[in-house]
Amino acid sequence: MIDTILNTPVTVCGRNLPNRVVFQPMEGCDGTKDGGADELTRRRYLRFAKSGAGIIWFEATAVTPEGRANPRQLYINENTVDSFKSLVEDIKRTALSECGFEPLVIVQLTHSGRFSKPSGTPEPIVAYRNELWEKGKESQPYTVADDEYLSSISSSYAAAAKLAMDAGFDGIDVKCCHGYLFNELLSATEREGSYGGSFENRTKLFFECIDAVRNVVGDKLIVTTRLNACDCFPYPYGYGVDKDGNIDLSEAEKIIGILACKGVELINITLGNPYLIPHINRPCINSPEDGNVGMERIYNVTKALKDSFPDVKIISSGLTFPGENAAGYAEKLIAEGVCDFAGFGRMTFAYPQFFRDYLASGKLDKNKVCLKCSKCTELMRSGTVAGCPVRDSEVYMPYYKKFVLNK
Ligand SMILES: Cc1cc2nc3c(=O)[nH]c(=O)nc-3n(C[C@H](O)[C@H](O)[C@H](O)COP(=O)(O)O)c2cc1C
Repeated sequence: MIDTILNTPVTVCGRNLPNRVVFQPMEGCDGTKDGGADELTRRRYLRFAKSGAGIIWFEATAVTPEGRANPRQLYINENTVDSFKSLVEDIKRTALSECGFEPLVIVQLTHSGRFSKPSGTPEPIVAYRNELWEKGKESQPYTVADDEYLSSISSSYAAAAKLAMDAGFDGIDVKCCHGYLFNELLSATEREGSYGGSFENRTKLFFECIDAVRNVVGDKLIVTTRLNACDCFPYPYGYGVDKDGNIDLSEAEKIIGILACKGVELINITLGNPYLIPHINRPCINSPEDGNVGMERIYNVTKALKDSFPDVKIISSGLTFPGENAAGYAEKLIAEGVCDFAGFGRMTFAYPQFFRDYLASGKLDKNKVCLKCSKCTELMRSGTVAGCPVRDSEVYMPYYKKFVLNK
């Protein structure tokens, strides 16, 4: 076994982990109609369980039916909690027998906001009307979430947190990234009422939900967030960008400072928006910018936040792009103090065993690594299940042929 910084132990929120590899949340859009884990969901996570990753960050899981991003998005509720429970048990059992330890399993709780599609067609619930998104789609039925609706959401988070605890998850991510409801509220500078305008108002719902979850789980579970450091949209359409279009991390720093005071010790940093500017959060081939430019942006943003908060454990995102060199690149980030954990997304779909291969031989198999071709996203956007049709072709190529190529 090679000696690698990725494989050095770390303690987070009082839990000892044998390594710094995180499997990032990756939606498979393959749940049951009522939001439980289905066959393909189980297959994905049981592959992940054999990976040796210290943290498995469970994908976006809705807390309300109207906030589901697709009809097969996972949704934790009284009817589905048992399917989560048996899956979490099986992940831990499998990991223990295959890798000798139980990973942390953190669930990402979400409200999809502008990207809600509970029945398969857009039913956006927006923080504010935004021409950046709505140009050419004016006929869609936009619902601007009123203050009364927003103030009810923390009770949905509390209920979901209770169920997540019953299901055996180790932690809860109050998702605040990629343009979904809480992230969109961060840029609601023109919104009137208690959830728009000032920084305090724009972050109010997010912190209400952090508090609601903490009240339910106490110290038994980790409370965390996947946070957009910046949206990378021109001002005033996104947060974290100044009037000249430069990245401005001052509000992200304020948010992390408040989270740290609330006892949040682990934060998963991401940026951009996967719908309009996907190359920002997942550098890829066939992109408007060279992927290395995207990698440098992620590096700089994550490092700046880690420098400001040395005591908060930071997870970096977007580490699949270096392909065969992804594990080596991740090591460099940890060694240079950019992050404490290395988070991998697309690589987990293509090559879930990559970390074990790296430990065994010091390299990744070039015939198995993710090709950054975005076919997994094409599957998701075409309304079917998401996976890697290239490297996991037996299962996902038939879907790709049917839903993408034959469309
Ligand atoms: C098919 C697909 C599904 C994703 N699902 C989620 C999700 O549920 N929650 C989330 O925060 N990010 C999600 N992401 C983003 C990834 O977690 C990750 O940030 C992104 O792919 C960049 O990392 P990578 O370069 O390692 O792939 C998804 C990305 C893809 C391609």
